[in-house]
Amino acid sequence: MRVLAIGIGAGDPEHLTLQAIRAIGECDVLFVVEKPGARDELAALRRDICARHATAGQRIVSVTDAVRDRATPVYKGAVDTWRDERRALWEAALRDELGADETGGFLVWGDPALYDSTIAILGEIGIDFDVIPGISSIQALAAQHQIPLNRVGGAVLITPGRLLREGWPAGATDVVVMLDASAAYRGFAGEELEIFWGAYVGTPDEVLVSGPLTEAVMGEIEEKRAAARERKGWVMDSYVLRRPLEAERDE
Ligand SMILES: C[S@@+](CC[C@H](N)C(=O)[O-])C[C@H]1O[C@@H](n2cnc3c(N)ncnc32)[C@H](O)[C@@H]1O
Repeated sequence: MRVLAIGIGAGDPEHLTLQAIRAIGECDVLFVVEKPGARDELAALRRDICARHATAGQRIVSVTDAVRDRATPVYKGAVDTWRDERRALWEAALRDELGADETGGFLVWGDPALYDSTIAILGEIGIDFDVIPGISSIQALAAQHQIPLNRVGGAVLITPGRLLREGWPAGATDVVVMLDASAAYRGFAGEELEIFWGAYVGTPDEVLVSGPLTEAVMGEIEEKRAAARERKGWVMDSYVLRRPLEAERDE
């Protein structure tokens, strides 16, 4: 049994690398983890990728994801329970669907190394696996805004919105924010910051907004985000917040 975690990019089927396409071609079974509910559209995008590249008769197996209890106040506990359930589902899928001398691939959104539990779950299951990197949503966002993530010789910090709400990360100048359902940037309103925001980046629904972190720009993001959410039922967005460097401010 050979198992691969294959990064498939952040929404544009052309994000797939040659390595990912070759890996998909080598698979006997492709596992598509589906979340119940509106986000099924993500599974549809994965299926589109399968249709384009899995042309050797691969079996496509849906694994219905465990639902995370977001209501609980114990964040880590909720994630642990969810991961346990998820691991049991994946173990069962591998046991029932993949033959001893077959290759199975889990198609992972973006890059498997970034805010994704596939690597951790396969590690917990205790099987050998290989990781095929993918274009992450961060790279896609930077490309669409035509910005580098770092300034010359500088650092970049990647954070979920949940942590940004606790305050600006010490010493950071360039911050990439993912998984933010409640506008964590609002905590820095009035500060001299620039924002580069994008939703559904790389897909036909892509929306981009950038500019100084003023009320007008934040309002535009929120209006466009709400309209997209209304239309599609879910939203997938991230952004870069950037402080002017001292040198730039003096210019
Ligand atoms: C569970 S993480 C998965 C990240 C993924 N592994 C990656 O490499 O991009 C989901 C978060 O990624 C970001 N994201 C993923 N795809 C995106 C896209 N096409 N446009 C904007 N943000 C995206 C959003 O912040 C979303 O909340």
